[in-house]
Amino acid sequence: MFDSAIYTRRREGLRNKLSSGILFFPGNTEASFNYPANPYHFRQDSNFLYFFGLDHPDLCGLIDLDTGEDWIFGNDVDMDDIIWMGNQPFLKDRATEVGISNTAPYKDLEAVLSKAKSQGREVMILPPYRGETKMEIERLTGVNSHDVKSLVSEEFIKAVVSLRSVKDHNEVAEIIKAVDTAYLMHTTSMKMAMPGVVEQEIAGAIEGISLANGGPISFPVILSMDGQTLHNHYHGNTLEAGRMMVTDAGAESALHYASDITRTVPVGGKFDARQRSIYEIVLAANVKATEAMKPGVSFRDCHFVAAKTIASGLKDIGLMKGDVDEAVAQGAHALFFPHGLGHMMGLDVHDMEGLGENYVGYNDEIQRSKQFGLAFLRMGRKLEKGFVMTVEPGCYFIPALIDQWKAENKFKDFINFDNVETFKDFGGIRIEDDILVTETGWELLGKPIPKTVADIEDVMR
Ligand code: GLY
Ligand code: MN
Repeated sequence: MFDSAIYTRRREGLRNKLSSGILFFPGNTEASFNYPANPYHFRQDSNFLYFFGLDHPDLCGLIDLDTGEDWIFGNDVDMDDIIWMGNQPFLKDRATEVGISNTAPYKDLEAVLSKAKSQGREVMILPPYRGETKMEIERLTGVNSHDVKSLVSEEFIKAVVSLRSVKDHNEVAEIIKAVDTAYLMHTTSMKMAMPGVVEQEIAGAIEGISLANGGPISFPVILSMDGQTLHNHYHGNTLEAGRMMVTDAGAESALHYASDITRTVPVGGKFDARQRSIYEIVLAANVKATEAMKPGVSFRDCHFVAAKTIASGLKDIGLMKGDVDEAVAQGAHALFFPHGLGHMMGLDVHDMEGLGENYVGYNDEIQRSKQFGLAFLRMGRKLEKGFVMTVEPGCYFIPALIDQWKAENKFKDFINFDNVETFKDFGGIRIEDDILVTETGWELLGKPIPKTVADIEDVMR
């Protein structure tokens, strides 16, 4: 974990933004897989990790804005636990490591919360996302589990988003470690992408690389020859020459900061002319959108840079036509690029998405569009120094979507449907990097992962 002063400073930051009441942070418990004592790999709640740092189940954190006290509630292990899990530090010692001197047995929490309630003090939570947590909040506060939203405070959410959005150098160092693990995952994936290999052999190998480097994967591996399906978790295809393979995968560092990288390679290691033509368009979109990033520029404008680069490239090869700016303004390019340029990344791969995507990515100045494609842009607001963003444009040929738009004659002034028809067997291409916004622009995080045609062919050779 980080130095205790970091957690103290973060809690102080929250205190400076909020005036009164109790901020209640239920940590995560173990979650059962197929029977009670067979749990999934434990993952602490990211907000708990950010403010309280302790990576153990069955803890609750509390910040009392009125008394200025921070508390951790939890239990010391008993002899049975020691027999099965080994010696464990006392809660008091764990709490000291994150700058907290007030600890109490978990059973005391209920009384503390009910006293606060009887005094008419506000108890605030962030949106819970696990059923167990909702039920525990119900038990502790008396608020029905279907109604715990009533304890969620918008002010609390906004304060957390403003703090977690800006990454300090310690956090950036963690993200770099996670990207460096992703370097090993992706170069391995490239080297394994040969005809006859089953996708799951590669997906399993790269998940193992993440674990072997000290952290789980940051989200389930997306790896497929059918890259036109954006989040494809089916890994049962046998790779065939002539197809492209998308790998979208990242790792968590030991402190749970994420990486999220996508690379697309030709099965067998050599791009053919058609693959290369689309690949160069997506690569140009990735590079130009990244180069547009700096404090004060909206991420929505960076998205438009990518969208226009894709539309103009597709016009050059006869798949689109007409005025590129107009095509993008109307959303015609979304047939090929139906998602957003990227998202914030940090302790969550889609950072803070559980708090509400619009709190993270939008504000009064820049609001989410309802237009197909642009509506999936997770973040539109202006960039600030210290933001970490993914930049992940793509170009996809989704047969069902092509058929639908063609049947509706949709955007027929911007799309050459006859030519697009010949690409229905192509799949998709996405290229994704993790980028830090700096004082004057941007910085690619981690060891650069091959992404030019020449570099990918070189690794695969
Ligand atoms: N890496 C998957 C995503 O960003 O949605
Ligand atoms: Mn991503």
